[in-house]
Amino acid sequence: MTDTAFQQCINPACQATYAVEDVRVSCGKCHSLLDIKYDWSKLPVPKNLNFFEHRWSTKGTGTEGRLDFSGVWRFRELMPFYRTEDDVVTVGEGRTVLQSADLLASRMGMRSGKLLLQYEGLNPSGSFKDNGMTAAFTHARLVGARRVACASTGNTSASLALFAAFAEMQGIVFIGSGKISFGKLSQALDYGALTLQIEGDFDACLRRIRQIAVDHPELGIYLMNSVNPFRLEGQKSIMFRILEALDWQSPDWIVVPGGNLGNCSAFGKAFQELKELGLIKKVPRLAVINASGANTLNQLYHHQQLRWNNGAIDQEKIGKFYASLDEMNHHAHTIASAIEISRPVNLPKALRALDFMHGVTREVTDDEILEHRAMVARWGFGCEPASAASVAGLRKLMEEQVIGKDEQVVCILTGHELKDPNATVKYHTGIDMKTAQDLAKREPTTGKYVNQPVPVADDLAAIIKAIGADPSTLPNRLKPASDGVPTREY
Ligand code: F0G
Repeated sequence: MTDTAFQQCINPACQATYAVEDVRVSCGKCHSLLDIKYDWSKLPVPKNLNFFEHRWSTKGTGTEGRLDFSGVWRFRELMPFYRTEDDVVTVGEGRTVLQSADLLASRMGMRSGKLLLQYEGLNPSGSFKDNGMTAAFTHARLVGARRVACASTGNTSASLALFAAFAEMQGIVFIGSGKISFGKLSQALDYGALTLQIEGDFDACLRRIRQIAVDHPELGIYLMNSVNPFRLEGQKSIMFRILEALDWQSPDWIVVPGGNLGNCSAFGKAFQELKELGLIKKVPRLAVINASGANTLNQLYHHQQLRWNNGAIDQEKIGKFYASLDEMNHHAHTIASAIEISRPVNLPKALRALDFMHGVTREVTDDEILEHRAMVARWGFGCEPASAASVAGLRKLMEEQVIGKDEQVVCILTGHELKDPNATVKYHTGIDMKTAQDLAKREPTTGKYVNQPVPVADDLAAIIKAIGADPSTLPNRLKPASDGVPTREY
């Protein structure tokens, strides 16, 4: 199938192309981000979206059953980059819910049926990341990767760790020391990923992992962050499911929290392709909501009018903004730790999505996030703090009358409430339980499957040493147990 799919530089002045089998996260010529593109004229594209409905009734554990069960792969004709269906790595992701949140709507001053919540926390690892991981792992399998890694504010690491265990690859995650929530750390450890706790924040972790994956090919590390264009192919499916739940009619607005800006970029690509294929008439508008402690996109887009500008993005404006952050030694800081990011790698793609979807950005304070998180819990199924930025942003946009009372709005709830119980308990009781990441305070552990985080300085050599150049010398946390539990060989 891959002769009909390829990778392409997003810079319209470059548009260099690469084979699907190439492992890269940027253009070799101009270093811009890459898209996955398709030669739709040679592919069996459905004539209308109702086509996908026949898959709801497929049963069984065979290939078709596995793919149709997945809320990502049941739309496989819209992301056909894999070689054979057996390449697909799926854990049953994407079976999420679009809730008509009427109880919350009335508290937001909206009429019934106008506020919908897309609960991506209902994915197997508890966040929307599984939509992208299934696609990126499928590509990793296609290229024969054995070792996969990411930098993370928590959810990417949890999802990577889960998929790596399933795909029998070695998972390595870089997390900022003390920066990720309890629930997410516990998942990365439990699923058996080598968890490097770097002295620094997410931006530092991402910088390091890109260096390592690109500059040290001998480590054979396949990068799983959303800078990997295959991740975004899977994340398009969040939009397909929303359309499906609305009987293939677009809502007026999609509101989503913005961190590294992969999700909003994927949403823009989804609608761009659906429109190009004539599968939808109306494109919803997009609102991307930053936390005010991590507000790069809103500062640049809303306040400084940075635009996609047909791909001729004003790089000087971005450079100046980042230089000013450096000058002030500014680091992102928000209670919504999932979106505590000040250098979003997908910024150009996000600008493109905002352009295509006639979008807006806003930022919301930690207090606004916490209040709206509590409201989603009280009158919905709950979500983690970062997710509630979408609802807090909706409130702001309604107050400004950018979003009208009668418009239909879907807020994306990106992560499960139980990802960050500390935030919830602290909100309700004032007690801070966040001591588990203080390694100095740990007690001896004796369990058979103990997988401790490894503290590492923000230093390239130290990180490479912690990873180990030769897979056989890696500190394999799933060492052979004497009780006959199978060992994973990397
Ligand atoms: N919401 C949650 C719960 C997240 O975990 C993230 C990102 C976002 C929103 C922002 O999404 O990056 O596509 O704009 N979490 C990443 C991580 C960065 O490492 O888990 P985005």
